[in-house]
Amino acid sequence: MSWTKDPALRVTLLPRDTNKHGSIFGGIILSHIDLAAAIESRKTTGSKNIVTVAMDKVVFHKPVFVGDVVSFYTRTKKVGRTSVAIEVRVEATRAESQETVRVTEAEVVFVAVDESWNPVPVK
Ligand SMILES: CC(C)(COP(=O)(O)OP(=O)(O)OC[C@H]1O[C@@H](n2cnc3c(N)ncnc32)[C@H](O)[C@@H]1OP(=O)(O)O)[C@@H](O)C(=O)NCCC(=O)NCCS
Repeated sequence: MSWTKDPALRVTLLPRDTNKHGSIFGGIILSHIDLAAAIESRKTTGSKNIVTVAMDKVVFHKPVFVGDVVSFYTRTKKVGRTSVAIEVRVEATRAESQETVRVTEAEVVFVAVDESWNPVPVK
């Protein structure tokens, strides 16, 4: 399946989200990756109850800074019986130069579950 033209999520981050190096803490980026992938997985599966089972192949290529506009693009990679794998590409548009660079990529796997957290077919 193809990449979404528009990002699933677009945010700018605050000084409170920084690490001791002055760039954005990786865990904050991961949290937004999880949310962006969840939005894509709901579109793909139509399922309301999906939970994250794995975050794989996370690569932080470049730092993200306060004031960057950070866009999370998604693609459904694989639909299984009860799971769906979503790829996420993260791009940052720098506040001053307006240059856009790819900063992070990851793959997130979700499982559709019932009220008792038992896996159920995705569609
Ligand atoms: C998600 C959960 C219900 C799955 O239960 P489980 O007993 O591992 O389920 P199964 O072994 O039957 O696997 C279900 C599906 O998940 C996939 N899966 C399980 N572990 C996986 C992993 N580590 N990586 C990728 N896929 C995985 C299986 O391949 C299977 O996919 P398929 O049906 O499409 O072939 C259970 O692991 C859980 O409750 N995890 C905690 C979830 C959570 O708290 N997330 C954070 C907040 S949302």
